[in-house]
This record gives sequence, C-alpha cells and structure tokens, in this order.
Amino acid sequence: MGPRDEIHEIAGVQLLDRELARAVEEGLSLVEEVLRREVQSNYEFVTETSLHLIDAGGKRFRPLFTLIAGLVGPKAGAPEVVTAAVVVELIHLATLYHDDVMDAATMRRGAKSANARWDNSVAILTGDFLFAHASRLVAALGPEAVWIVAETFAKLVTGQMRETRGPRQGEDGIAHYLAVVSEKTGSLIATAGRYGAMFSGCSPEQVSALRRFGEVIGSAFQISDDIIDIASEQASSGKTPGTDLREGVSTLPMLYAMEAGGATGARLRELLVAPLSDDALVDEALGLLRGSDGIARARDALGERARSAKAALAALPDCPARDALASLTEFVVSRVG
Ligand code: IPE
Ligand code: IPE
Ligand code: MG
Ligand code: MG
Repeated sequence: MGPRDEIHEIAGVQLLDRELARAVEEGLSLVEEVLRREVQSNYEFVTETSLHLIDAGGKRFRPLFTLIAGLVGPKAGAPEVVTAAVVVELIHLATLYHDDVMDAATMRRGAKSANARWDNSVAILTGDFLFAHASRLVAALGPEAVWIVAETFAKLVTGQMRETRGPRQGEDGIAHYLAVVSEKTGSLIATAGRYGAMFSGCSPEQVSALRRFGEVIGSAFQISDDIIDIASEQASSGKTPGTDLREGVSTLPMLYAMEAGGATGARLRELLVAPLSDDALVDEALGLLRGSDGIARARDALGERARSAKAALAALPDCPARDALASLTEFVVSRVG
C-alpha cells in the first residue's frame, strides 16, 4: 500500500492522505492543549466546571472541520486556524452548558450534565465564562473574525429562541423546523468552515463555498442528532433519548411521523401536542416513532443535504482536504445509517 492508500480515521472521519491525516492530528492535539489552557482561572472552581465537559470528550466535529478547511488554501496550517478551531469549540461548549439547562438534560457526553452535577446557576455561569474566553481569544484574530462570531452567536441564539417559542399560528411546522436547525446548528458549523478557509488564505469564492458547505452539513448534523434522540440508546449518544419529546420540541422525524394516517399518526398527534413528562408516555411515543416512516423520511432529507453539500465542494481545488470534506459529509450521514 502506498501512503495515499492507508486509511486514517480521526473522530469517525476517513482521511485517505497521510500528510493530511498527520496535519489534522497535530492540529487536534494543539486544539486540546489550547482549550484547556484558555479556561484556567485563579478561581479554581470555574476551571473545574469548564473542564468538566471538555474532559468528558465529545466528537470535536467543529474544530475538525475548521482544521480540514484550513488545509484547503495556500496558507495551509496557518496558526490562526488552530485558534479559530478553539474559538468555535469554546462557543459550542458554552451553548451545550446553556442548552442542557433549557432542556433540563441530565446527561451530556456520557457524563452528568453540569446542571445535574451542580445546578442551573453553575451551568449558566460556566457557559458565560466559556463564551467570554472565546471572545477574548477571537480578538487575536482581528475585527472581521470578531464580527463573524458575533453574527454567528446572534443567529444561533435566535434559533434556540425560535425553537423555544415554536411555530407561529398557521406557520408550517417543517419550515419552522428548517429555520431553527439552520440557525441553531448550521450557523456555527458554517463559521467553522469559513474560518478555516479565511485563515488558510482561500479566495472569497472558496470561503463562501466552505461556509455554504458548513451551513448545509450543519443542518444535516442537527437532523441526524434529532433522529438519534429517537432511535439511539444512551450508551451510544452519551445523552438521554427522548429529550426532545420531554421538551416538547417537534423535530423532523416527529413532524413526518405525525403526518401518517391511521391509528399511529392519530396517536402521535395526540401525544406530541405538548411536552411529555410521564416515562410511560415517552416510551410509547418513542416506540411509535421508531416504527413509523418518520425516521426514513428524515434520513432521506439528510441524504438530500449530503448531495447538496458535496456539490458545494466543486468550487474547491482538487486536493486531499477536499476529499476529507467529502468524507466529513459521509460521517454526518453515517451517524444514523
Ligand atoms: C450537540 O453537538 C449539539 C448539536 C448541535 C446537535 P455535538 O453532537 O457536536 O456534541 P459533542 O460536541 O460531540 O458533544
Ligand atoms: C441544541 O440542539 C443545539 C445547540 C445549538 C446547542 P439539541 O437540544 O438537539 O442538542 P442536544 O441533543 O441537547 O445535544
Ligand atoms: Mg438539548
Ligand atoms: Mg438533540
């Protein structure tokens, strides 16, 4: 086997090129180092609460994407790319601490959520602390990067707010859902790609292609997360299944399943009209959803997005990083495959 034939798998993503795999691996280990360094405080408790989810693991999907996108341009591997990858993961982490408070979630990354381990105040303040450090770090990347992150965070929060409020009267549930996932998840993943492209010196066209690619795989990533909330066990996701049902969040597989005729569709429409708190009702709804065609239809929606993401890659030069981005798309789809 030649060097190009060996398959390196990093965080579930196949990297066929040895040089590229090495660069990504080095980048990821720097990301870990900087992440831990940035949350050090002279008040140890806040470092402990911050390290709680950093140490619990996670896929590091967003920094991985920034690092790969950062190998597309002529300044491949510029040090700013690593900083940008850390900024993106810190913002993601901050939203996880806050999201678990909003969702009253008890598990995250296979560990107790911060709100469950300590309390809501600790979780909220840790999220704020992480966001503050992301802001401090991004300042080193210049005003454009600061502007981008501010816009991104506003969009992400708007998505969380839109989800919390639910569709307006008469608004189409699926259109509402698609706006939510694009805002709450697509926005940050788009910025992950955009930063990698910008700091590796890509052309404006390539920067927008990577941003577009990120936006599409970001929405796909959330659709797969929403399928996982219904179809997976806690052991594989590290989170409690059925959280979306308990929170009364209507996700794509649920919206599709509720369109079904017959007794299943009718019962789901009855069950999913409001948040479910009773364990037996959650189990009943999960059972009906797992047996419905909602999951298959949501998978189809995922497949469509994977195709459109790959189409966005055509604007990039033919290079190992582009192949790795195609593999990143496969990873998003295969999570629910
Ligand atoms: C969870 O993100 C929140 C969503 C946007 C779905 P991830 O699935 O990337 O969580 P970690 O970082 O791997 O824990
Ligand atoms: C939240 O979506 C996404 C964020 C922007 C944090 P979810 O509520 O589905 O995320 P999980 O399932 O808790 O990770
Ligand atoms: Mg949640
Ligand atoms: Mg979820």
